[in-house]
Amino acid sequence: MEKTFAIIKPDAVERNLIGKILERIESNGFKIAAMKKAQLTPAIAKGFYYVHKERPFFGSLTESMCSGPVVLLVLEKENAIPAWRELMGATNPEDAAAGTIRKDFAVNIEKNSTHGSDSAENAAFEMSYFFSETEILS
Ligand code: CMP
Repeated sequence: MEKTFAIIKPDAVERNLIGKILERIESNGFKIAAMKKAQLTPAIAKGFYYVHKERPFFGSLTESMCSGPVVLLVLEKENAIPAWRELMGATNPEDAAAGTIRKDFAVNIEKNSTHGSDSAENAAFEMSYFFSETEILS
């Protein structure tokens, strides 16, 4: 079993999409190993997305992530990292496949409703950024 880290972003929380997104997660065979609602601060968002700090969209991305509450998740499944990325769809909803979360719910590339770790190394960092080991229940 592999674990990955996911966020339901402010744009989706604001539009009452938490339940619909969790339903897709569970019906696609993921176990929710940890979950909490949180309001990110600019410092927390910048630390989380530090790999993108040189990108032109860093300021607006981190601002957008603080625009309202998020839902933080640890998801568990075989090959959870690629499986969650596949279920989300491409980063830009315009490129996302039919039936994916981003195709169905995202507003644009920044307000793209969900986040998912892109590697085992980043998943480990991202899970530990928001959850202690005792909060992750396999
Ligand atoms: P996420 O999976 O959270 O990882 C980094 C985020 O940066 C990504 O989703 C997008 O929301 C955002 N992002 C990536 N590329 C761009 C871009 N070209 N313009 C604006 N935001 C972007």
